[in-house]
Amino acid sequence: MKSLFSEIPHLCSSRITVGEITMQHAQGLYELAHSQEVYRYLPTFLYEQQHPDIGYVVRHLYDECWKDSILLGVFAKGDFCGLAEFYGYRAEYHKVSVGYRLLQRWWGKGIASETLDLMLRYLYGETDIEIITASTMVENQASARVLTRNGFDLVTHGALEDWGYPEPTVVDKWIR
Ligand SMILES: CC(C)(COP(=O)(O)OP(=O)(O)OC[C@H]1O[C@@H](n2cnc3c(N)ncnc32)[C@H](O)[C@@H]1OP(=O)(O)O)[C@@H](O)C(=O)NCCC(=O)NCCS
Repeated sequence: MKSLFSEIPHLCSSRITVGEITMQHAQGLYELAHSQEVYRYLPTFLYEQQHPDIGYVVRHLYDECWKDSILLGVFAKGDFCGLAEFYGYRAEYHKVSVGYRLLQRWWGKGIASETLDLMLRYLYGETDIEIITASTMVENQASARVLTRNGFDLVTHGALEDWGYPEPTVVDKWIR
């Protein structure tokens, strides 16, 4: 069994690849990071939004960002669709959290559900992870559906968390 963060994962289904982001994906990542629709239900402190130079972001995904999170591209037949993320790793509890965000034109095609399926297979099949968690804004029904389709259970409804907004964010907490 691998420990998480020992490699950049590369995950494949017949339709989707989840893997390393390189400079050739910078334009797609820039478009994603500047999309209001995508970030409406997300925390304000995500790595791809922390630096105005997207080239800097890409160059530091697997060193500076790597300390806190593994950010991977989601690709459909080579096209950049969005991001998959492993974050909040707690080695002592064999626990990690998962997230995903896609460009709006890729929504509604089952890509997030398939991406999460690949992530879960990797975590449970190839790493020592035993607990996987996720958090959603209570209004984010599409993300809640992606989680329930992948066997997550709602464990806390309506918790207040600091997601970087002026007011606390009302959040559902999920576990798999
Ligand atoms: C959430 C997100 C990743 C979903 O991606 P996607 O590829 O469209 O998801 P899927 O197609 O795999 O599944 C979406 C499910 O939600 C359902 N859904 C979509 N919008 C919905 C809504 N407003 N209310 C209820 N269900 C909704 C779909 O019908 C589908 O369910 P089904 O398979 O039973 O029909 C995408 O909308 C996104 O990137 N949103 C912005 C970022 C974000 O919110 N990320 C998650 C943060 S926790």
